[in-house]
Amino acid sequence: MRIPMIVGNWKMNKTADSVAAFVDGVRGNLPDGRQLETVVCAPSLFLEKLVEHTAGMPLEVGAENCYFEDNGPFTGETSPYALSKIGTEFVILGHSERRKIFRETDEMVNLKVQAVYRNHMRPIICCDETMGQREANATVHWVVSQVIEALKGVSEEQARTAIIAYEPSWAIGVGTPASPDQIEEGCYLIRQTVADVYDDEIANEVRVLYGGSVKPANINVIMQKPDVDGVLVGNASLEPESFLELISNDP
Ligand code: G3P
Repeated sequence: MRIPMIVGNWKMNKTADSVAAFVDGVRGNLPDGRQLETVVCAPSLFLEKLVEHTAGMPLEVGAENCYFEDNGPFTGETSPYALSKIGTEFVILGHSERRKIFRETDEMVNLKVQAVYRNHMRPIICCDETMGQREANATVHWVVSQVIEALKGVSEEQARTAIIAYEPSWAIGVGTPASPDQIEEGCYLIRQTVADVYDDEIANEVRVLYGGSVKPANINVIMQKPDVDGVLVGNASLEPESFLELISNDP
């Protein structure tokens, strides 16, 4: 049985002094992590404070990126080792905004996936799809190749804990998600690719998320699709009220 997940991605929003207010706004209203896993991924600047404020709560903490070396002459980068030492449990990797704006390649994403596992955290691997690729019917190739490249060198034991998100960039930040059938198609594709790389058992353990304009009004129909185990939410995760509405609207 895969535990469903709701993951917030704050991106480059909020400030460190807003962390306490967010956590206090959701405190006492979160489900037991055994029924629904809730995670907030925030800028590295906030993570130590977020870990501190969420201690003892069923709200886990993630980063939005990291480098693939644990330490060294990499000015401005964030060490996965240092992230793990402050209690970070997840790291979003390969988000379409990093692939597009910061030219992150499949190879870099894979090195980061290995670094996150090396530091005993769990990767949330994002697979992008541009509208051009969808219209060119290249979806199958594009999503499949990102999953295969991201999982290179990842053992069967590690892969079982992987979380992979289908995040068509044409649905991010626009207010309207992909259709439920498009979402199921993308998530099914990811799960089948994991089955091809490993086997059906591991593919059935991996959690597959959808991201792209998820809101309290649409989360229910998205979460009911068979290959959707959860959602990766941007704008609607920023405020405690909306974050709680996502949870209360989850079937
Ligand atoms: O990682 C999730 C994010 O890309 C989705 O953003 O604002 O469309 O929910 P948003």
